[in-house]
Amino acid sequence: MSIALSPMIKIEKTKNSKINAVDFSNLPFGQTYTDHMFVCDYSDGEWQEPKIIPYQNISLDPSAKIFHYGQSVFEGMKAYKDEEGKIWLFRPLDNQKRINISAKRLAIPEFPEEYFMEGLKALLRLDSDWIPTSEGSSLYIRPFIFASGNGFHASPADSYKFIIACSPSGAYFSGKLKVLIEEKYSRAANGGVGYAKAGGNYAGQFYPTQLAVEKGYQQVIWTDDHTHEYIEEAGAMNIFIRIGDTLITGPTSDRILDGITRKSVIAIAEDEGIKVEVRKITVSEVIEASKQGTLKEMFGAGTAAVISPIAGFGYRGDDYDLPLIENNYASRLKKRITDIQYNRTEDKFGWRYLVK
Ligand SMILES: Cc1ncc(COP(=O)(O)O)c(C=O)c1O
Repeated sequence: MSIALSPMIKIEKTKNSKINAVDFSNLPFGQTYTDHMFVCDYSDGEWQEPKIIPYQNISLDPSAKIFHYGQSVFEGMKAYKDEEGKIWLFRPLDNQKRINISAKRLAIPEFPEEYFMEGLKALLRLDSDWIPTSEGSSLYIRPFIFASGNGFHASPADSYKFIIACSPSGAYFSGKLKVLIEEKYSRAANGGVGYAKAGGNYAGQFYPTQLAVEKGYQQVIWTDDHTHEYIEEAGAMNIFIRIGDTLITGPTSDRILDGITRKSVIAIAEDEGIKVEVRKITVSEVIEASKQGTLKEMFGAGTAAVISPIAGFGYRGDDYDLPLIENNYASRLKKRITDIQYNRTEDKFGWRYLVK
């Protein structure tokens, strides 16, 4: 059955909902997908009619350029259900803008704002029963665009697919996070695509991360590609370091993703009266602070994991532990940000976005 919801989006509902087979009390991150997906194709020089269809496989020609040249970008966002059953997004227009910043860098046509927002809202309203309510869980939302056009010629495709798929998810990390400061491999380079959420950035991270995992760490701390002296990101998160009572994070650049959690953490920390410095931070400064006992906290910040405290790090064969601090910044900031996301407190910044 095909019905028109608005002049723009056609909806084809599934006849076989999978929701009753899902154990909502035990949700791994990003492994279960909702009943529907939002799809829009680009061809003949424009984005075609968007639609919502049952979640399903995609068929592509083996020469589709995504397979050969990795022309793909994505976003990560979450929908939250509050105690009254209302559904909220967190700063969604920032994700909408960022996917187009990424797309432009990969020579992918930009996706119109109203298609993104209307498609997302229609999908969330349709699959609203899939938004989990247990503590720490949410509906992870994955918008992405990839080159579906054919041809072995190394040039941009002439057709693309934009999709939004959703996954009810629990926590991203479990247990203590130990990280390795990386000095050989780089995630990004000057003039490259580090600031974009391009699929290939993540593919390039997997091998060095595997090596770190073999050594007993869970994630890699990326340093700058030129000198490896400056701390840049933690896995797929922005990084914050507390030395004394000052919270420090590196400035964004063309190597670092302009994270939405990062800028929210900065604003909340400043609102809490915490001294925040956005400046380059060296590995030697962190090692020195650890030796002096002034290194108090390190944590990653990103949509998937929200705020992930780092328990210890490895550097040049030595391990350094972070102290356990009562009333630490990480838990204070995490509480403030998640209280806004789940509509448990006022939203003085105007970040919450009501879906339904
Ligand atoms: C490389 C990288 N850095 C930082 C982040 C955090 O960004 P955000 O807070 O917008 O999720 C992400 C995740 O999206 C990421 O992939």
